[in-house]
Amino acid sequence: MTKTLIRGRLLTFKRAPMSLTDTESYTYEHDGGLLVDEGKIAAIGNYTQVKATAPADVEEIDHRPHLVLPGLIDTHLHFPQMQVIASYAGSLLEWLNTYTFHEECRFVESDHAARIATRFYDEMIRHGTTTAAAYCSVHKTSADAYFAEAVKRGMCMVGGKVMMDRNAPQGLLDTPQTSYDETRAVIGEWHGKGRNYVAITPRFAITSTPEQMQAAQALAQEFPDLHIQTHLSENLDEIRYTCELYPQAKDYTDIYARYGLLGAKTLLGHAIHLSDREADVLSETGSVAVHCPTSNLFIGSGLFPLNAIRRRNKPVRVAVATDIGGGSSYSMLRTLDEAYKIQQILGERLNPLDSFHLMTRGNAEALSLIDRIGTLEVGTDADLVVLDAGATPAMALRMEAVTTLPEELFLLQTMGDDRAVAETYVAGKAMKRGVGS
Ligand code: GUN
Ligand code: ZN
Repeated sequence: MTKTLIRGRLLTFKRAPMSLTDTESYTYEHDGGLLVDEGKIAAIGNYTQVKATAPADVEEIDHRPHLVLPGLIDTHLHFPQMQVIASYAGSLLEWLNTYTFHEECRFVESDHAARIATRFYDEMIRHGTTTAAAYCSVHKTSADAYFAEAVKRGMCMVGGKVMMDRNAPQGLLDTPQTSYDETRAVIGEWHGKGRNYVAITPRFAITSTPEQMQAAQALAQEFPDLHIQTHLSENLDEIRYTCELYPQAKDYTDIYARYGLLGAKTLLGHAIHLSDREADVLSETGSVAVHCPTSNLFIGSGLFPLNAIRRRNKPVRVAVATDIGGGSSYSMLRTLDEAYKIQQILGERLNPLDSFHLMTRGNAEALSLIDRIGTLEVGTDADLVVLDAGATPAMALRMEAVTTLPEELFLLQTMGDDRAVAETYVAGKAMKRGVGS
């Protein structure tokens, strides 16, 4: 691969911003140059300086006046739920039982799984998302389709075959033994292939027997470096039923703790209704609470206390995610817009620097992948998103009155969606034109 020099307004975070005026938390180059070599960032800085170090025949792509950021990261979504989005239900368990489980049964068919995988990655790229952590269905075929398509596109993806052995239709159930065997097979075939990371994925405590939780525990002990993803405390009826199923546990969080499933690589979707004790446990174990704002509003699950949980004496690590198909948009911009509104309702603030940090570096840290993705640092993978804050007539008009970088970011978050994504680079390769805009 030849070297590429990408010119544009570069923005990357060094750490979480403390306030809207925390200019030390990020690097911004108004006329920036990013040199990409073999899919990795080889140099970053002022365009003229970087250009001087580049070979004379370097291919140049000029994205001015657009912003160039690290690719957006989505830390929780369901690849087999693309045709579940916009399903009309009163609450979580009704939504799962009426629509979601039935739809996921279709993924036993490898042709269907392959077709949806193609469409899934098209949407990721269209929306500027270069890494995601997804649940596949219970079927190994779905994980095969998911990871095969990631390899084809060169994308860095986390995912797992869902483990579930009760409280769902027959076509969506495995057993403790088959869930163990098939997860092992998925790990063997896909973990480390291309840029893939396999996650151990017990769906949630309601759909796993204690025997299956033991199987998940055995996998976690055998493969301690792997991510673990599951759902926690999303809905009040769900919590009540879960605690009935595991009467010996202190609370919902304690179920996962008892089976050794908490830790720095554990991603807990939703985690809305936690007691202080549970939040302490997440903090002590370094587990990540994944905020899914569009889903939490759409399904009516509750208001995740993003700021409150981060400023506890024992802070909880957080990430942000779309939760497609409970979530209603593939866009991380739309997602952070809804997160902002939830904080407003809770009497809190979520500033745009914080939001853009969360979508990039914050989510990379939550996935323990900061050495590879989430920044524009030299040596990391050249996964990028190019954002146009004047993408629609209404945005362009509003942009006329914008004078600062935080204002521009806030406009992108408030009015932007896939139309604001001018380009998406995966390992240095422009991908968006291929999927259309
Ligand atoms: N809890 C268990 N499974 C799911 C799911 O597919 N979506 C959501 N939002 N919550 C869940
Ligand atoms: Zn989910």
